[in-house]
Amino acid sequence: MIPKSHNDEHNAPLVIAIDGPAASGKSTIGEAVARRFGFLYFDTGAMYRAVTQAALARHIPVEDEAQVTRLAETLHIDVTPPTVADGRQYTVLVEGEDVTWELRSPAVDDHVSVVSAYPGVRAAMLIQQRRIGLAGRVVMVGRDIGTVVMPEAPLKIYLDASPEERARRRYRELVQKQQDVDYDAVLASMKMRDAIDSGRETAPLRAAADAVTIQTDGMSIEQVVEAVAELARSRLHLDPDRERHPS
Ligand code: DC
Repeated sequence: MIPKSHNDEHNAPLVIAIDGPAASGKSTIGEAVARRFGFLYFDTGAMYRAVTQAALARHIPVEDEAQVTRLAETLHIDVTPPTVADGRQYTVLVEGEDVTWELRSPAVDDHVSVVSAYPGVRAAMLIQQRRIGLAGRVVMVGRDIGTVVMPEAPLKIYLDASPEERARRRYRELVQKQQDVDYDAVLASMKMRDAIDSGRETAPLRAAADAVTIQTDGMSIEQVVEAVAELARSRLHLDPDRERHPS
């Protein structure tokens, strides 16, 4: 069946693309904007994390590009709205098994950049991501949404913040989860991921030529959400009277 599409009058799918480096606020902002406009929230990083977690669980060495690529091509990944009210933004099923929280482990953090740099893995994920994007009414979050996955998106945001600010945010998040972490180690891991994500040959992290860059150092979550919502209203011709505001 062809998915029902929600397009504007120029036939561009109603997609808000949000790209940016790790811990730049993409998921918090993306989820809030999606809720406001009643759009689906789709975090494409979850798919790369699912492949990484599956490779680790099956003892496939992440350095083995051929085996990891084969796994990505055959693995059944579903990203659905939350199925459990435990603070998750969505549920990820791999071969029917709920792996949502496993995807956030330090082991996955440490290996996902290597896995997501493999061109074959990206090609496999791209097919699934475009299908969801083309259906419209979706906020898609990742590294290459504006440049590769949905270049026709009517609104592309590039969220940025300094490595120190992003490391502070991630550090606070991990401490809240009672994880034993060291700020310098978080900062080092952040810089390492930045280097791999930006330096890879296939679909490196960068802002699309027509993206709006928001430098979020010193901005509150509400300020960033407002800025994105304002752009979304005008670019996607959304009706402000139908917005949902947090109570
Ligand atoms: O946003 P995140 O930290 O969950 O992303 C995990 C990894 O996946 C990140 O290191 C880069 C990669 N990624 C990507 O290459 N392309 C995307 N569209 C989304 C994520």
